[in-house]
Amino acid sequence: MPSLKVDGRSLSASEGQTILDAARGAGIEIPTLCWYPTLPIVGNCRICLVSVEGQPKLLPACATKVADGMVVTTQSHAAVENRKGVLRLLTERYPALNGTPRNEFERYLVQYDVVPTAVENRDLPLRSGDERPGDPMIRHDMSTCILCTRCVRACEDIQVVGVLDVGYRGEHAEIIVGADGDPDKAGCTWCGECVRVCPTGAIFEVMPRQRFAPEQIRHPERVVRSVCPYCGVGCQVDLHVADNKVMRVTSPDIELNTPNQGSTCVKGRFGYDFPQHRDRLTR
Ligand code: SF4
Ligand code: SF4
Ligand code: FES
Repeated sequence: MPSLKVDGRSLSASEGQTILDAARGAGIEIPTLCWYPTLPIVGNCRICLVSVEGQPKLLPACATKVADGMVVTTQSHAAVENRKGVLRLLTERYPALNGTPRNEFERYLVQYDVVPTAVENRDLPLRSGDERPGDPMIRHDMSTCILCTRCVRACEDIQVVGVLDVGYRGEHAEIIVGADGDPDKAGCTWCGECVRVCPTGAIFEVMPRQRFAPEQIRHPERVVRSVCPYCGVGCQVDLHVADNKVMRVTSPDIELNTPNQGSTCVKGRFGYDFPQHRDRLTR
């Protein structure tokens, strides 16, 4: 069992664990964008780079296996400057911020004090991509996409469908939906995995936005753990409640030991308006 030091703390890691695994296990935070629990590691965003004693370059914590005797510094000057650089680069194609951070990515911008360049002073336009126009459940606003590819891997590896991909190259790279942008023909099951993993909200649920204010969605009055009523699997779901109405349904953390391991099907995730139906007996 390899032992290592992370930020001065002595840790034991299991064989095959990465620096990120060991740090997370000890409650040491390393920022991540392309990494997501259980998804294949691609190491493309470079925000998780850390200093490792004896190594001439920073190493990606998400993709570097622990070795016995490693000495890691997660907040070295070089690592922090690299994170700011990565975030600055990503904001070159990202819309202007609008007050309180709305998502995982914007929280990092605040944490690392990175302010996007004014939109009118940028060389490149906002990113675009397939939008799923008219879709009643899931749509895309690819101006906030940072090309982390979590959605592509979640669709391919968790749902095993492969509806999404990265199309084009260089500055034109964007997330595309197969079958010329038609999710139905591309085999989409509307499972919502892509919504769940997206760190910026570029892929989002339509219904809550049609019915509730953004602030309500971000801060539900209650989140109630329940069991999906549709079939016999017993998937656990979290009901986000406001004004005694279900605003949206999410699944428990993927790393929790639940029957559905963080996933739901289309019914569990999107079939939640029946409790409020006018024909429902309430007394
Ligand atoms: S809803 Fe599910 S199947 Fe459809 S694109 Fe997203 S992850 Fe893939
Ligand atoms: S849509 Fe979201 S999950 Fe997919 S690549 Fe863009 S930012 Fe990442
Ligand atoms: S989180 Fe490690 S490279 Fe993206």
